[in-house]
Amino acid sequence: MAHVDLRAVQEFAEGLARKAGAMMLEATEKRWKSGSSTQDGSAVDFKKNSVDLVTETDQAIEAMIFTSIKERFPDHETVGEESFAASKKSVVEMTDAPTWIVDPIDGTTSFVHGYPMFCCSIGFAIDRVPVVGVIYNPTLDQLYTASSGNGAFMNGRRLPFSHPHPLPLDDLGQALIIVEGGSLRGKEIMDRRVDTFKRILADGRELDGGLMAHGIRSQGSAALNYAAVAAGIADIYYETGCYSWDVAAGVIIAREAGGRCYGRNGKPFDEAALVGRHFSVIRAIGNPSEDNVAAQDRLIRSLFDTAVADFDV
Ligand code: IPD
Repeated sequence: MAHVDLRAVQEFAEGLARKAGAMMLEATEKRWKSGSSTQDGSAVDFKKNSVDLVTETDQAIEAMIFTSIKERFPDHETVGEESFAASKKSVVEMTDAPTWIVDPIDGTTSFVHGYPMFCCSIGFAIDRVPVVGVIYNPTLDQLYTASSGNGAFMNGRRLPFSHPHPLPLDDLGQALIIVEGGSLRGKEIMDRRVDTFKRILADGRELDGGLMAHGIRSQGSAALNYAAVAAGIADIYYETGCYSWDVAAGVIIAREAGGRCYGRNGKPFDEAALVGRHFSVIRAIGNPSEDNVAAQDRLIRSLFDTAVADFDV
């Protein structure tokens, strides 16, 4: 593994995320003052379809972050949501080199509407394993950070919030599970997605596979969803359709908080999963007579065996 000072990377990423947050808030204010129909007073463009949004602020933030990284760490690679979209490639390419994986605004739809759940997500991977993560929600002024072996924090507070005692969770009937509508809206995909939502919520006495979980939530930002699971305020986040830049920072933050990450069909998260489109994560579980990882794997298995309808993207 290449030798990199992870604390220096994390500190630099924190500065970039805060600068990105200031740009988001400035654009938001500009809109409220101008009465413009778009968040930053500029045009909203579409990537794949009319619900896959990108603004000039997304592009300006990514340019600012990548220019700064190239000056400070000229031999590091970069992967970003907006440069990938501009490249017209269909598959994300990633090497083993030290790589910054950036979503300048995760939750662009919320940003466009002024709904306060958007953030800057900066992940850093070596050998395609996320080792530093910084997620900043500027509206709430919440900074989530982690680097390999050093723990995960929100504004300096150790995660999960119940640290050092992860809360118990016996079965998914007591779980709060985050899901997302995503931006892929074709009939087949929507049928499968809605099937999953239905089984998570339904009473199993009336619908086969129904888990009757406590509830589902959608924050509109994959990065903030990983942060919520890391903090222990949600139990599981499951989504098919997002990309490495949505999750890279979240993966290391969740892992450092004792959480466990998975790829397609609940397989443990690995280098291939990072460039895939299937993601889930579960918080640290403190069951009295069950090992943390055993409990996590059992609960995720139960989610995939009973509720999740798999689909190709
Ligand atoms: C999106 C958000 C959303 C998730 C989508 C992502 P973006 O990222 O993370 O929560 O459901 O799959 O594409 O487009 O706002 O950066």
